Amino acid sequence: MTYYLYHMMQEEYHISLKPYNTFGIDVLADKLIHIQTLGQLNELIASKVFITGSFLILGGGSNILLTQDVKGVVIRNELKGIELLKEDDNFVWVKAMGGEVWHEFVLWNIERNYGGVENLSLIPGTVGAAPMQNIGAYGVEIKDTFESLEALDLKTGELKVFLQRDCKFGYRESIFKNEAKGNYFIVSVTFKLHKRPVFNNSYGSIQQVLEKNGVKELSIKAISDAVIAIRSSKLPNPSVIGNAGSFFKNPEIDETQFNALKAQYPSIVGYPTAAGKTKVAAGWLIEQCGWKGKRVGNTGSHKDQALVLVNYGGVKGEEVYRLSEAIKQSVADTFGIHIQTEVNII
Ligand code: EPU
Repeated sequence: MTYYLYHMMQEEYHISLKPYNTFGIDVLADKLIHIQTLGQLNELIASKVFITGSFLILGGGSNILLTQDVKGVVIRNELKGIELLKEDDNFVWVKAMGGEVWHEFVLWNIERNYGGVENLSLIPGTVGAAPMQNIGAYGVEIKDTFESLEALDLKTGELKVFLQRDCKFGYRESIFKNEAKGNYFIVSVTFKLHKRPVFNNSYGSIQQVLEKNGVKELSIKAISDAVIAIRSSKLPNPSVIGNAGSFFKNPEIDETQFNALKAQYPSIVGYPTAAGKTKVAAGWLIEQCGWKGKRVGNTGSHKDQALVLVNYGGVKGEEVYRLSEAIKQSVADTFGIHIQTEVNII
């Protein structure tokens, strides 16, 4: 049942969250509030719900695994709008509201030839969720073009500005996933994008696709098209088969440990990091343990990318969680490496 309260703030009670998470997990929320305007956000701050509630904020629901019904209030960020704030000879500053679909924001920039997010094409989720885990792909992370964000403090109701240094970005990490977890509603994010694009086509598979597509002159659009082609060929489309992208992070290990593993397993995949460590492809580790493409009940590791766990239909979050723990255990037993979960388990 749907009620319209607080000047159009839309609330739903005992509602399934299945349409609101890309894993397609069917759990109930006591209450779901859709925030579509700043007016509604102000209504929320002034409401009893805000004063007494504890919240789960949802963006595109593309990086969560729901393992139980949500007691309490779910607030869905559906704020829309993209705006050019200012520009100089080299850069544009573009502000996007937190509920914008990430890929639509990317396309908005590609149409205008603003560079810096083209390698992040087709990542599921919303603009507001993107800084939470510093989304990244094909050699680029959101932190590379991030300027600032505005967030509502859910304890005080105040709007706060976070600059790059305040966000404590790391590999799939930020303050919003750690010490500030659950404390903020990301209202908008501002990006500083290039008018004279600096292309990042260092990732091997991008080069291969560019060659295959006969691209002679690099462009933002050509890179975006290549990324879209790679993602579509390897990663399951969440609207067809439920998933939350990479379920695990690629672990970083010491060079000595990597070299010892390399001697034993010559095909192991690893890349040196700036911090002098080696980032190991967790997909490779999981595949070696025999999980790739293996189905367990209604879940399993995807046949083209072992890092992605999928919902074959009607899966419970708990089942996916159990599979993820079994995978972690076998990687630890085989390689002595403890891989970490990337998605947020609720
Ligand atoms: N690999 C395997 N088996 C697999 C998967 C991968 O051997 O099942 C090997 C590949 O052959 C390759 C290496 O691992 O040599 C790296 O694979 P890939 O290029 O697919 O990237 P990834 O490290 O597995 C990361 C991100 C992805 C992102 C890609 C491209 C993480 C946790 N994942 O995956 O991000 O799209 O790089 O940049 O960092 C996400 O975060 O949800 C996500 C999909």
